[in-house]
Amino acid sequence: MTASCGAEPLHLRVNGRACSIAGVPREATLLHLLRNDLGLNGPKYGCGLGQCGACTVHVDGVAARACVIPAHGVSGRAITTLEGLGAPGDWHPVQAAFEDAQAAQCGYCLNGMVMQAAALLARDPDASEARIRSELSGNLCRCGTHVEILDAVQRAAFRMRAKVNP
Ligand code: FES
Ligand code: FES
Repeated sequence: MTASCGAEPLHLRVNGRACSIAGVPREATLLHLLRNDLGLNGPKYGCGLGQCGACTVHVDGVAARACVIPAHGVSGRAITTLEGLGAPGDWHPVQAAFEDAQAAQCGYCLNGMVMQAAALLARDPDASEARIRSELSGNLCRCGTHVEILDAVQRAAFRMRAKVNP
């Protein structure tokens, strides 16, 4: 495929910071932009087809698959990646719960699991086990860590509710 450069610079807010990026090819995906141009390697390349969830980010707070979103399609939007969710010493409750529950083997799916769960709990901290299962059903884990992942998300939901209603 021959790359064609977008005529207009792309303006985004990424993890709370305004970014202006020139020369982004029209066919570039958001995942490519984040990883290759901005050095944000939290979102992973898995299937590249929108089917595994490894590349999940938040677009205006909604979980979305960065591998199938054209970078130019999110101009002007607010993007959050795993790096913007929390950091060592200041983890997002979902990240902290994944660590506590040791909900990882190879870890490749974790970006998607964490980002999908964080978006769910932001809009529904009372999410039931069935709701959490349903929300994560499109996020694949080849290592079979689903039980620990479900445990982690439920722990996070409990802690987030306790913080809101001490
Ligand atoms: S890499 Fe995006 S959904 Fe699989
Ligand atoms: S922990 Fe390996 S793919 Fe989920």
